[in-house]
Amino acid sequence: MSNVKFYDLHPPLANLKEEVLNGLSSQPKAISPKFFYDREGSLLFDKITELPEYYPARTEISLLKEHGAEMALQLGKKSLLLELGSGSSQKIRLLLDALQPAAYMPMDISKEHLWHSAQTLATDYPDLDIHAVCVDYSSDFHLPYSPDFMAKSAFFPGSSIGNFEPVEAQKLLQRVAQLLGHGGVLLIGVDLKKDLPSLNAAYNDAQAVTAAFNLNLLARINRELEAHFDLSCFEHHAFYNERLGRMEMHLVSNTPQTVKVEGKSFLFAKGESIHTECSYKYTVEEFHHLAAGADFQPKQVWVDSSQLFSVHCLQVG
Ligand code: AVI
Repeated sequence: MSNVKFYDLHPPLANLKEEVLNGLSSQPKAISPKFFYDREGSLLFDKITELPEYYPARTEISLLKEHGAEMALQLGKKSLLLELGSGSSQKIRLLLDALQPAAYMPMDISKEHLWHSAQTLATDYPDLDIHAVCVDYSSDFHLPYSPDFMAKSAFFPGSSIGNFEPVEAQKLLQRVAQLLGHGGVLLIGVDLKKDLPSLNAAYNDAQAVTAAFNLNLLARINRELEAHFDLSCFEHHAFYNERLGRMEMHLVSNTPQTVKVEGKSFLFAKGESIHTECSYKYTVEEFHHLAAGADFQPKQVWVDSSQLFSVHCLQVG
């Protein structure tokens, strides 16, 4: 008997079509980064996390390795442990032994990837009660499994919070605070502001994996919708927007062109872009301020010695 239960709370196709058509009709054109993560995109993202230039993943992992016991102590044992954006569920492995959760609830928008990762985890942790939820956590959602007697805690690694506009990030944290309830604890990874060359290199890697990840958005739209993007007519462009404190990723049209999507024609001037991602960077103080607006109080924060990345422990109330 498998110790994994699956819940599908996500209507992927309707969502994709509506948001892509709206995004391409808006000025400037934009598509949400949540659509990067089909199976292909999730695998490309896993490759990004192994790149020498992409410091966030390895720095967060070394913080989890170094301070995992302390983090687990702050999170508390035997809770229903939620993980937002669980991806391949690799980082949680560093905390599971110390946390001994009553149940683990990985949540991700990428169904196939989530299912696969949950099964792999179940094989490695046969006693762990796993409730895997496919969900778009950028909108309201309920927990499909939440016994009253279980305290809840949450893990939100990878600085995925940075992919939300600050107002949206705060709303998401408010929803997490509501799910956890008073006294609930959140462990969250947040990328720090830093020097320009490190930031630019992390999103413009030499092997062009990030470019492939960005372009896969158009390939996915071609695969899943009636769409005809020519990938050779778009280029990956990533840069740090200093005024707004965020990395931006764009797909820039290298020629004037018209692209048909679901029977609608979209005109691109040469040099016009589709904005595909923001990745906000926060100082420790800026993030405390954002979290306070969502009713989270700081408990502890861990930062690596090169001040690249932070892991915050926050408590509701
Ligand atoms: C998932 N997220 C936090 C990554 C980031 O750094 O914003 C996604 C990513 N985009 C390009 N490289 C990685």
